[in-house]
Order: sequence, then C-alpha cells, then structure tokens
Amino acid sequence: MNREQRARAPGKLLLFGEHSAVYGYPAVGVALDRYLTVLHTPGARWSVTLYNGGDTPAREPFPQADRFFAHLTRTIIRCDPAGESNSAHSTKRPVPGHLQVWSDLPIAGGFGSSAALCAALARIFHPGEYNPIADWAIAHELEHFFHGTPSGIDTGLSTLGGAQAFSFFRPGELPEARECRLPSMHLVVGSIPRATDTKSLVTGVRRRMEDSPDTTMRYMEQLGELSRSVTAVADQSPVDVATFASTANAAQEILRELELSTPTLDNLLSGGREAGALGGKLSGAGGGGAFYLVCETEAAVDRVAEAIREALKREQITATALFSMAV
Ligand code: PMV
Repeated sequence: MNREQRARAPGKLLLFGEHSAVYGYPAVGVALDRYLTVLHTPGARWSVTLYNGGDTPAREPFPQADRFFAHLTRTIIRCDPAGESNSAHSTKRPVPGHLQVWSDLPIAGGFGSSAALCAALARIFHPGEYNPIADWAIAHELEHFFHGTPSGIDTGLSTLGGAQAFSFFRPGELPEARECRLPSMHLVVGSIPRATDTKSLVTGVRRRMEDSPDTTMRYMEQLGELSRSVTAVADQSPVDVATFASTANAAQEILRELELSTPTLDNLLSGGREAGALGGKLSGAGGGGAFYLVCETEAAVDRVAEAIREALKREQITATALFSMAV
C-alpha cells in the first residue's frame, strides 16, 4: 500500500448506559453525522499533523506520537494471522508515513474523537473488502492507547454507524452490537468543558461501589434497565418520543445522585426543558462534557438551542459544541 489513503469515521453520542456499561449492563448510542478524517501519505518515517477544522495545524501536539505509532504497528501486525510469527516481513505491517487528521468533532468533548481516529486508521491499514466487525476489533485495540480499558461502545458506533444497542457477555471482550430503532425525534446536542476526565469519573464510581455496594449496584441496574427499556431491535417498534425523553430524565436523576453531573450541566438541562425539550441527560462520562435534549419538533429545537445559549452566557461558559441532529 504505497499510495495515499483517506478514510473518515463518525463520532458518537452515547444515549443510555454510561457507567453501568462498565459493570456489564446494556448501552445504546448513535453515530453522529460529524466526522474525523485521516489522510495517510506513505513516507520513510511516521509523523502526524492535527488540524483545527480548517487548514491551520492545531497548537497541541499529538500526545506521545512515537508510542502511538509503535502501538499502531503492533496492532495491525497482530491482526494479520501470519504477522506475529514473521513481523519484520508481514504484508500487513503498516507502511509508515505522514498522517493528517481533520476533525469536525471537538477533541475530548465526549463525542468519541479518539474512537473515530482509531476507526479511520483501522479502515486505512486494514484495506480490502469492507468488514466493519474486523475494523471494530482493530479500532478497539488501538483505542486502548487513549483509554486504558475502553468498553468498545465508542469504536463500535464509529465503525458500525447508525444506532446500536450493546450487550456485554464476557468482561474484557467486545460487546455484541445490534442495530436498534429509535423514535423519530430531534436532539439538541452540546458539550461543555470537563472538570474531570473519564478515567477519574469511572474510578469515582468504583470507589462508591466499594463504599456502598448495595446502593451503587442498584443504581447501575436501574441505569441498565432504562437503557434496555428504550432498545427496540429487529421488528420491535421503537418507544415513543415522550417515553424516550422521560427515560432520559430518569437516567439523568440517577447520574446526578452518583455525582456524575455538575450544577452547570443540571442548569443547562433544566433551561432546555423549560424551553420545550421533553427531556435530556448528560452523555458519556459526565463531570461536564456532552449532553443532549430531546425535542419533538424542529421549532422546539430552535427554542431549546437558544435557551442553552442563554444559560451558557449566564454560567459564563463557552460550549465546545452545540448542534442539533434529526434521529
Ligand atoms: O469517555 P466518554 O465520555 O466517551 O464516555 C465513557 C462512557 C463510560 O461508560 C463512562 C466508560 C465506558 O468505557 O463505557
């Protein structure tokens, strides 16, 4: 593979099941219509340039680029059945070169930008017939570089696309993904800076689990149950939009009890609900980060987005993203 290759992969919005997925409960998410694009130009050495939207390189360097390239090389060889025994000559050994990365997704905004990078790289370095399940396995391996123990949801949504319901069967293994049906609705989606990263938030829940196992496990079960209740697969009919929205409110209440929300996030969500959203919740690890509000009509979307902008002004916070999507 000595010619330029380009691939893009979408970001994700986790709809239900954050944190409880870590304990094996089901989760539901949807791929965004926002993408991260990678262009690989073969060369003698590895290098990478990140772009901020346009053609201006980002100021922040790619974290630990050399370690990442070593991880990428190992992962691609490992995914070649003949590669491990003959790694120096493996036909699957990725050709080094320059990677240019453009993203419509805010980095570290809770929309799965690192998973989208891994999914795009899996596509580039695992050429041949399109095989999203094989790409998912590679992307998941790559994602370990960014998140010690990823659940596989982000890379699953990025490689498979659409709306997916995830079920976990064996700890440490990728979940099973099934395409699922959601009510037809509009989501106002936003993200605010995070006070804490995913790892610390997951650790915080683990600590709660040690300190008060019964209550915390009950919360996880409830979050899992809420996630299951909105999941319609195969020929099942999706729940209606009002049910979906009130389920989001119920999940948000539990996430708040677990101290995964923040006062700002709560204020944004209640501002959005007062402006006409039927419900909403944080999305992803919490501590700030991504959130969504459920609207029935496009007219409601405009009012809700305006209310969010006003609330952000009051809170003196700049959103890292604010957009709407039709589901
Ligand atoms: O890091 P985020 O915001 O994409 O979401 C992580 C979701 C968790 O359930 C908290 C962790 C996981 O790996 O599922």
